[in-house]
Amino acid sequence: MMAANASNPASQTAAPGPIILLGAPGAGKGTQAKAIAALYGIPQISTGDILRDNVARSTELGKKADPIMKSGGLVPDDLMLAMVEDRLNQPDCQRGYILDGFPRTVGQAEWLDSFLGKALFGGRQMAPVVVSIEVSYNQLLQRLTGRRSCPADGKIYNIYFQPPRKEGVCDSCGTTLVQRKDDKEDVIAERLKSYERQTLPLVEYYGQKGTLHKLNGELAVEQVTATTLEVIAKAATK
Ligand code: AP5
Repeated sequence: MMAANASNPASQTAAPGPIILLGAPGAGKGTQAKAIAALYGIPQISTGDILRDNVARSTELGKKADPIMKSGGLVPDDLMLAMVEDRLNQPDCQRGYILDGFPRTVGQAEWLDSFLGKALFGGRQMAPVVVSIEVSYNQLLQRLTGRRSCPADGKIYNIYFQPPRKEGVCDSCGTTLVQRKDDKEDVIAERLKSYERQTLPLVEYYGQKGTLHKLNGELAVEQVTATTLEVIAKAATK
């Protein structure tokens, strides 16, 4: 995460509060979360990244989550909520944060509502800005099968849409890029089914609350970032 910086207007604003990125696997949540977190100087909280770190370290949580993630299912809410609560109570979350991959079930969204009802950002309560990144099924498949990432700095590439300058190597640090274990076609199909069954209902959940903003995730990365920033800025003036 980049620190707030004087030449960047977004980092100068008062506390941006909680921002939620909704979207199917491969919609671009991680790509956008990294850009926006850097611009605002707030943390990107990716539940997928936290889980993968637990799997890599073979923690108790990681041992439970690993087979579920490999099958394309969702990790049970009770495990997720304890993990997320711990993360959201860290001191770097006081101005706001960008949630990437959470909430993912109605139960998680209800828990988050109750958590945010007691949370303060820059001394005041703030409703989340919810952005749903919309991408068609075929585009999602190509994005997921083509994704490669850097295990050292987390930078995300795509062999079709955002290739590194040198094949298979991170532009920033020269580390060999890897493919995520769950980016195999059979697991992708299960992840997309889990999304439709358990996460898509959140579009209606936040739609009814009036906090949802849908945007076209098929535009170029920079255009999606610009639209997301507009949505966040507009929400701040309400
Ligand atoms: P997680 O890591 O959250 O995976 P996901 O939701 O499936 O999302 P992805 O990371 O695959 O995609 P993304 O939307 O971030 O897209 P990205 O920016 O990388 O979760 C993994 C697993 O953990 C879950 O399956 C589940 O088991 C578990 N889990 C996590 N959270 C959980 C929760 N809350 N509850 C229960 N279980 C949980 O982009 C994808 C590709 O597209 C990249 O190659 C990128 O370069 C490219 N791309 C991005 N934007 C564009 C663009 N505009 N144009 C062209 N290409 C683009």
